[in-house]
Amino acid sequence: MIVTIDGPAGAGKTSATRGLAERLGFRFLDTGAMYRAVTLAGIRQRVDWQDEAALARITAGLELVLTGDRVFMNGEDVTQAIRTQEVTGFTHYAADNRSVRLQLVQHQRDIAAGINVVTDGRDQATDVFPGAECKIFLTASDQVRARRRYEELRGRGEEVAFEEVLTKQIDRDRRDQDRQFGGLHKVADSIEVNTDGLSTEEVIDRLEKIVRKRWDG
Ligand code: DC
Repeated sequence: MIVTIDGPAGAGKTSATRGLAERLGFRFLDTGAMYRAVTLAGIRQRVDWQDEAALARITAGLELVLTGDRVFMNGEDVTQAIRTQEVTGFTHYAADNRSVRLQLVQHQRDIAAGINVVTDGRDQATDVFPGAECKIFLTASDQVRARRRYEELRGRGEEVAFEEVLTKQIDRDRRDQDRQFGGLHKVADSIEVNTDGLSTEEVIDRLEKIVRKRWDG
């Protein structure tokens, strides 16, 4: 069974998806981590961000291995390194690159082939797994999403202002929605869950109920 969880940044997708996968005994696939790893490789190799073919070549040369909670790039554990603000700021180059997307989408399909999986991303229900048995669209209000991101960054000791986080988020939302390939859209057969005011555990409870209902037929 494939469960897709799409939605904007800050809706709580990654922690909810991870928790849901654990409860169900499914494989967890964080597709955003793949775009982040490509971006990290681009930064390290000082790629010219305007050169789309160069980033595509870098992607082709990467071995990305995602375990339940760790991300390995050519054997190196980059789980922490892909979460910096610098990487977040450059990810749109990887996400907007058609060849990079095609490569990562193929990788995602290969990983999910023949197993039970919960995937987390933007294009999972629309492009990657349009035949998925259960599609969820996770949202939250702009203010709540920005507040979560702000607290996460402050918790890591990063000096940021709330207004700056909110402005960047609005910019990222626009980029995610306007992306020519793999843009963020809610499909007709997806179930929308708004996470405003809910704890991660409460979100996971709701998602688990939705999936089990589908699963039991
Ligand atoms: O979910 P995230 O913040 O880790 O995603 C990182 C970036 O990758 C973000 O700019 C959106 C993009 N992305 C994408 O285009 N398609 C996906 N399936 C997942 C993430």
